[in-house]
Amino acid sequence: MVPALVVGNYTDVERHYHDSSSPYSLPNDAIEHDRLDTQAAAIVEMLGGGSPFLAPIRSMASICKAVDVGCGTGIATVEMARLFPAATVYGLDLSRVPAAVVERAPENVTWATGNVLEVDEHLEPTDDGGVDAIFAPDSLDYVFSRLLILGLNNWPRYCKTAARALRSGGIIEIQDVDWPFHRVATSEQPSSKWEWHQQTVSAMDRVGMSTRAGSGAAALLEAAGLEIVSVQTFEFSWVPAPTAPRSRALGRYLQDKFVPQFPALLRKMLGREGIVGAELERLVKQALRDLSSEEGLYQIYTVTVARKP
Ligand SMILES: C[S@@+](CC[C@H](N)C(=O)[O-])C[C@H]1O[C@@H](n2cnc3c(N)ncnc32)[C@H](O)[C@@H]1O
Repeated sequence: MVPALVVGNYTDVERHYHDSSSPYSLPNDAIEHDRLDTQAAAIVEMLGGGSPFLAPIRSMASICKAVDVGCGTGIATVEMARLFPAATVYGLDLSRVPAAVVERAPENVTWATGNVLEVDEHLEPTDDGGVDAIFAPDSLDYVFSRLLILGLNNWPRYCKTAARALRSGGIIEIQDVDWPFHRVATSEQPSSKWEWHQQTVSAMDRVGMSTRAGSGAAALLEAAGLEIVSVQTFEFSWVPAPTAPRSRALGRYLQDKFVPQFPALLRKMLGREGIVGAELERLVKQALRDLSSEEGLYQIYTVTVARKP
């Protein structure tokens, strides 16, 4: 393998990526699958342990059709399918889920590959199992998505697509982070002074991504005609701290498995802005320093649940 960028102790080795037109900048290989599964477990712990889903779905009369949008390794899709064995549960992603997951998944899971933003609003629903069929109007009981901040470059469209596809009484749950970093127990945002962070904000703005994917969801879901059921926030800790005991596993995982991916992530995100070579290396060094700089450093993770009237 050819190292693409070497910064301090970090070597950015070649990775494998999706081949769609989406600006999503993270890989889809075995290293990424391991990262996503570790992250999924740490998030469940942050939410209080037990279930990845906070929506009141267990009390719904019946769930016949549900989708996990941007399902990654399908870890939440499989859990959803086990929770609702009589439902058809879709796992949709830009990339295929790992073959081992497909082999062992419950029979009520259907895997689909595609971009949720390419659901055609004007097409009649089809029954070919494609994204249009998943999002047929008034057909879904439950839509779940987690951590699409680096994938969706049109959040209003995602919310409208989901709202149109929910049946009356159907529920959407969006779990996502905001991009700014906060200092524990203060209102300070150290990331407002980080040059690499400002550059990623510009890069995200330019392609239509939201740096407020979590906190912005409620307004977009309301604008799409849904009623907000609940909004809960959590500290998505990048460095473990005693002040956020439930986010300690998350902080350990982020330091061990996600921070080392920042050279590759920034190369993709900032490369699109023409930032390359020594300038990129300088910003990557700053990012690696800042992301581990202080105990308790966190992003805000928001869980928004809404219902179609
Ligand atoms: C950070 S991962 C999170 C995976 C999973 N939701 C979880 O929490 O474990 C984001 C996933 O969303 C997928 N994704 C990003 N943008 C997407 C889009 N526009 N349509 C469908 N999937 C998308 C990516 O391929 C990736 O697998």
